[in-house]
Amino acid sequence: MLKDQIRNLKNEAIGEILEAKNPQELERIRAGFLGRSGKINRLTKEIPKLSPEEKKDLGQAINEAKINIESVLRQTQDKLSVQSDNHQKWFDVTAPGIRPPEGHLHLVTEAIREITSIFTSLGFHRARYPEAEWDWYAFEGLNMAENHPARDEWETFFIENLENKKLGKGVLTPHTSSGQLREMEKYPPPIRMINIAKCYRRQSDISHVPMFYQFEGLVIDREISITHLKGTLDYFAKNFFGPNRKIRIRPFHFQFTEPSFEVDISCGLCEGKGCKFCKEGWLELGGSGMVHPAVLKNGGIDPQKYSGFAFGWGVERTYMMKAGLKIDDIRMLYGNDLRFLKQF
Ligand code: PHE
Repeated sequence: MLKDQIRNLKNEAIGEILEAKNPQELERIRAGFLGRSGKINRLTKEIPKLSPEEKKDLGQAINEAKINIESVLRQTQDKLSVQSDNHQKWFDVTAPGIRPPEGHLHLVTEAIREITSIFTSLGFHRARYPEAEWDWYAFEGLNMAENHPARDEWETFFIENLENKKLGKGVLTPHTSSGQLREMEKYPPPIRMINIAKCYRRQSDISHVPMFYQFEGLVIDREISITHLKGTLDYFAKNFFGPNRKIRIRPFHFQFTEPSFEVDISCGLCEGKGCKFCKEGWLELGGSGMVHPAVLKNGGIDPQKYSGFAFGWGVERTYMMKAGLKIDDIRMLYGNDLRFLKQF
């Protein structure tokens, strides 16, 4: 009997709670059932009159009913309070929001993308050749036999216990010129490649990092001459550095190009007159030259029919010249210190 009464009370309470329209009404219902002199407590007063067996049963039933009612009550409270919040708080949908902080790509990535887009607009295709390379591609095939003193300049990392019978020792790619031979092996002329990849050298000081990027251009076709090289470099310089900048080439020496040149760009601050930043009016960019016939042969191309030019420069260095930046220490570029990187 009493148990039925409790079940009915519980159903009644839940029914009323679900119908409640606002928090105040909800509170009235709560007090009516669960309050000190509420309907459920009134039933509790019957307990002392019962046998021990019945006491236990009724006590349990009352507890369960309370737990049930309270849980529905809480859910309804949450629902009603959300509704009334929406109702009462004025919300201006036209007010400007709070912008989350926005980052940008790393300087070197930005530079790589810009360089790529300048050369692809000339019909070059972007290539990437391995970071770990065989001696043949990095040196021997580029006309630098083992023990050739020119190799010293490349301060190479050798990979322990890695050797290929035909291609020699394993190295970490010391310059993107290794991509020249790989490109020639892959495609017949005409070739117009821009290979941008990581390079490694055993060096770390204020103007060198052990891992850096180079971009290497290679053009091979019939009757390619130095004028093509100069025109291409000039186009790059004007697009990357600005329309008033000029390049010049100076004789130099590399084993894999003949003739070889060092490429300079006119200083952006004094426009070539000479100033504190550049001294002579020119800044040194990097190497270039006409592909050596021996290298063409190693790449399976007939030097009687074809000729080509190549150039290879450091991405970080070229970028720093563009910005007119005198970054005191090139290692900062890879230090991941946001205070530094956010300035650009
Ligand atoms: N690979 C040379 C270097 O790392 C640069 C270079 C590339 C020179 C292509 C000539 C032609 O210094």
